[in-house]
Amino acid sequence: MNDERTEYKRLDSSFVEKRMLTGCFGKKVLYYEEVDSTNTVAKQLGRYPGNHGVLVLAERQNAGRGRLGRNWSSPGGSGIWMSLVLQSGILPANASMLTLVTALAVNRGIREETGLESFIKWPNDIIINGKKVCGILTEMSTVSDKLECVVIGMGINVNGEYFSEELKSRATSLRMECRKEVDRVNLIVNIMKYMEYYYEVFERTETLKYMVDEYNKFLINRNLQVRIREADSEYTGLALGINETGALLVETEEINQGLKNTSVKTVMSGEVSVRGILGYV
Ligand code: BTN
Repeated sequence: MNDERTEYKRLDSSFVEKRMLTGCFGKKVLYYEEVDSTNTVAKQLGRYPGNHGVLVLAERQNAGRGRLGRNWSSPGGSGIWMSLVLQSGILPANASMLTLVTALAVNRGIREETGLESFIKWPNDIIINGKKVCGILTEMSTVSDKLECVVIGMGINVNGEYFSEELKSRATSLRMECRKEVDRVNLIVNIMKYMEYYYEVFERTETLKYMVDEYNKFLINRNLQVRIREADSEYTGLALGINETGALLVETEEINQGLKNTSVKTVMSGEVSVRGILGYV
């Protein structure tokens, strides 16, 4: 995204902290005018005890990172580029589900703050009118097979109005969709409120048991044909919804000696890309 406006209301860490409606998440905010990546800063913090719930916020990132090794455009003043540090007792194998937990929280926060009809593209993109408005990057570090920290990076296109030629067809911002400026602090506060709520539900079972229905309700891929690209295979099928582990269930068909065989594949999030067969969604 290329935001050409130079004037914008800066975020202020103590103002954001005071507005927080949570018990822990975002009660301590570290703010940077410019940073390489808030995920990198948060990962450093996560190495030291006592940083559970700390939120790293930057006005601009000069080396923002996305999933699958992609770059994440993060110009100044227009977006929310933030990373939450979690120092949790959950099993490392269950940490990737936090990405879906975050998608639920961001989706709900955006809906409540803007009134827009946002949806989730599995596993963790937030979509409005067929275009991406937010991406989530979850990274973790372990020590002797135990989780040291999980960092949840959230990139939300809030008030930007310009996207590069390359991004234009698949990216949008909240302002472009609701045609008015969106208050970034209110949105951060709302997202943290839901993040803490869903995280506490998740932590009890380390599954998505109590969130599957809500997630599937907002899953934009549901009942649509999707193209799954994994490291060594690619196939098309009908997305049915997620299960309690956050995997996407995809119904595929094979014709064998004139007979149609239907099976359901369980697609785990990770190094996998999902596209609609006609476009981005
Ligand atoms: C994606 O959809 O590819 C994930 C994008 C995640 C971007 C956010 S912005 C804040 C945090 N810092 C980063 O470098 N990346 C994440």
